[in-house]
Amino acid sequence: MFDSGVGGLTVLKAIRERFPNTDLVYLGDTARVPYGTRSSETVIRYSLECAGFLTEKGIDVLVVACNTASSYAIDVLRSRFPVPLVGVVDPGVKEAARVSKGKVGVIGTQATVKSGTYQRILRSMGFEVVAKACPLFVPLVEEGLVEGEITDRVVEMYLSDLKEAGVDTLILGCTHYPLLRRSIERFMEGVYIVDSSEAVAKDLDSFVVDSGSGTTELYFTDRYQNLDRMVELIMGERIPPVLVSEGSLPGSPF
Ligand code: DGL
Repeated sequence: MFDSGVGGLTVLKAIRERFPNTDLVYLGDTARVPYGTRSSETVIRYSLECAGFLTEKGIDVLVVACNTASSYAIDVLRSRFPVPLVGVVDPGVKEAARVSKGKVGVIGTQATVKSGTYQRILRSMGFEVVAKACPLFVPLVEEGLVEGEITDRVVEMYLSDLKEAGVDTLILGCTHYPLLRRSIERFMEGVYIVDSSEAVAKDLDSFVVDSGSGTTELYFTDRYQNLDRMVELIMGERIPPVLVSEGSLPGSPF
């Protein structure tokens, strides 16, 4: 699976919990994070390079753990790579559609919200959708501010509109947001929270038989200062990351 950085480890963790024996290979494009503020062309190009790296590792299934990449690149990736491919958008939508009585909130990066992917699919299913970009959530998590007064204030600032709109279900449409879940849940009391990482893990039931050695390989394109701390925060354990230069990814122009 790949993500723009460390956030996709929330998806990796959910998959590991569901499939303890499956061998997992993760690429976090930490040299080029965030994807959430970039153009669709750039997100697609980066996604193709990440997927190329992983298919060279001999994977059987590709999980696009990044919501921004899933929103823009899933069709292109499907047309270029022969392995079964699971993105984070469809499983999250499926779960929301299962529980919502009609009004769904979606939060994500600026690029994810601008792509309109979640909104289009949910509206085509008859749901009313209120979408909101929450650009400060990713840096909050990266700073380790997953709880506390500052986090609660930022949550309130972004989510007041959705609360007032009366959404009954809220999709956390960004890899980092599950880490803010406690604060989000407190503020959106009574609203059903859809964590895409859990939804993806469930969706893999039809592709994964859970036989293997249960190994986890973590590759990152940059070993930035907070990397080891973030891996430990999300995974709850230390897993040594391996550095791979983004210029060496297949198809990279560098
Ligand atoms: N992984 C991204 C997502 O889920 C969040 C971080 C970024 O902007 O790259 O949309």
